[in-house]
Amino acid sequence: MSLAHLIRSRRSVHPPAYNNKPIAAEDITAILEAARWAPTHKKTQPWRFVVIRSDARARLADAIGEAYTAHTEKFSEITFDKLRGNALKSQVAIAICMQRDPKESLPEWEEIAAVGMAVQNLWLASHEKNIGGYWSSPGVIAHLGPFLQLEENQRCLGLFYMGYYDEAPRDSERLPLDEVVRYFEH
Ligand SMILES: Cc1cc2nc3c(=O)[nH]c(=O)nc-3n(C[C@H](O)[C@H](O)[C@H](O)COP(=O)(O)O)c2cc1C
Repeated sequence: MSLAHLIRSRRSVHPPAYNNKPIAAEDITAILEAARWAPTHKKTQPWRFVVIRSDARARLADAIGEAYTAHTEKFSEITFDKLRGNALKSQVAIAICMQRDPKESLPEWEEIAAVGMAVQNLWLASHEKNIGGYWSSPGVIAHLGPFLQLEENQRCLGLFYMGYYDEAPRDSERLPLDEVVRYFEH
């Protein structure tokens, strides 16, 4: 697949669409390898990943359910089941975390941006292997620190759920280029 095609055909594939085909450990390693080669200002390399698989998925589902119950203002059984179901239906979940440079040598947004670039690498590398993925960022991620054993200067920016799938995901849309680009030539 050409890079242009890979980028254009990448989609968010949600856990209900995943089948039970296991993801090989070496594929996860290769995907994380792609992630760690993202650009990083001052080489702070702020990305940190926690790979949650096998039995740990049930523990993740419990941690998410507990965080949701403890912190939501309007509890909804549907949301509770959906949040837990994402963890249970995925073959692998990768917690996307950011480590803030202790010296604060650059603004936090640059570290968040670097993590975002790592996730794009990770997402494209997954897609190249026909593994579906989806970046989930519900409010509960702010409360997963104890489960993820995050350090004080680390923060969870989301969960990247992964699984093989059978049905082609729906297509997606973007604004046309002329709405998002301006050229200056003189
Ligand atoms: C930082 C970030 C956070 C996201 N969080 C969520 C989320 O919590 N729930 C969700 O359904 N999609 C989430 N997404 C995925 C977007 O909804 C998705 O990329 C968008 O709908 C475009 O679809 P596509 O990825 O298939 O092109 C997130 C994407 C990014 C970049």
